[in-house]
Amino acid sequence: MTTNALITGWGMYAPSHVMTNDDLAKLVDTNDEWIVTRTGIRERRIAADDETTTMLSVNAARDALAVAGLDPAELDLVIVATCTPDYPLPATSVLVASELGATRAAGFDLQAACSGFLYGLASGTSFVRSGMYRNVLVIGVEILSRFLDWSDRSTCVLFGDGAGAVLLQASDQPGGMLGFDLFSDGGGCEAIIVPAGGSINPASHATVDARQHTIKMLGSEVYKYATRQMGESALAALRSAGMTVDDVDQFVFHQANLRIIHSVQKQFGIPDEKTFVNIEKYGNTSAASVPMALVEAIASDRVKPGDRILMVAFGAGYTAGGAVIEWTADPSRALLAPGSQTRLGEPQRTLADAAV
Ligand SMILES: CC(C)(COP(=O)(O)OP(=O)(O)OC[C@H]1O[C@@H](n2cnc3c(N)ncnc32)[C@H](O)[C@@H]1OP(=O)(O)O)[C@@H](O)C(=O)NCCC(=O)NCCS
Repeated sequence: MTTNALITGWGMYAPSHVMTNDDLAKLVDTNDEWIVTRTGIRERRIAADDETTTMLSVNAARDALAVAGLDPAELDLVIVATCTPDYPLPATSVLVASELGATRAAGFDLQAACSGFLYGLASGTSFVRSGMYRNVLVIGVEILSRFLDWSDRSTCVLFGDGAGAVLLQASDQPGGMLGFDLFSDGGGCEAIIVPAGGSINPASHATVDARQHTIKMLGSEVYKYATRQMGESALAALRSAGMTVDDVDQFVFHQANLRIIHSVQKQFGIPDEKTFVNIEKYGNTSAASVPMALVEAIASDRVKPGDRILMVAFGAGYTAGGAVIEWTADPSRALLAPGSQTRLGEPQRTLADAAV
């Protein structure tokens, strides 16, 4: 009998502090009109000083577990996709598992930049399908605000903080991943990079002075590559599922730039009602972007059991990924989960609230 990996729980967390484009205009020479026209972003969430990547992850994960009704002690594996971990060492996933009370879970971090959640979904699905694990938590999370040069207007306006999580559970029912494609091209290394803090340029006074621990980006190069690669990854994932664009009920693209999303829509003739967008509220949250968009698509009644969802992401590396899933869970389960912010679709919960 085939074992499938079904998404049975989902959750997200966005820090309560909202930074608007007008707020940014007080820091750098920019304005709301420029940012909205070029990117579609109106505001983003910024983690409080005492919030950590682990905390954001745990908030999203608790909701995912509550929706599924799973005790954290039943988790077999926690995968955390992030490029902004709490520490270079140890892995954030291990801290998340401990905090959740996932006493017997294995944990590892996965770094594929903005494509990380889809790499995590493919990995988690493989662990379940192989029969090795039954309950796998996949989290996409970032605190990018700590890795931005707040004097560089070409990057600081684009990114935000947040977390999204899904629980994969083994099932003999049909559904889950129908096809996927993962891609990488190290030729893009210089196009989006944090140049220091790794083994090539270890931290030093000079690297700190030169702000080399923050994101540097060749915006227009990335834009061109992303526009092409998002389309190619979408097609590759569909091919792997034996499907065409017309078979898809909802598209959840990486929320990097509204113009990139529109360009992919135009390329394939995808209507707005099939394309979920929330970039205006969160900016580019990298590995958290796809799961946060998925969770909000579910909360906005865009998804019902039997629907085919195509998720596509693109990121630093370059990396890219596409995954087609057949949705099986009852979206109203989120309503039943006590304290779940997914039912509100408006993540305002603070850490103090979460601790109650
Ligand atoms: C960053 C991005 C929005 C810039 O848009 P663009 O249309 O390419 O703009 P350009 O970089 O050509 O800059 C145009 C002008 O705006 C200026 N500019 C850049 N950032 C600005 C800002 N925040 N506010 C006002 N002006 C800005 C530039 O200095 C440039 O001025 P100049 O013509 O006098 O030199 C766009 O390239 C992009 O979205 N790239 C992809 C980024 C991305 O998604 N990265 C993550 C991938 S996961």
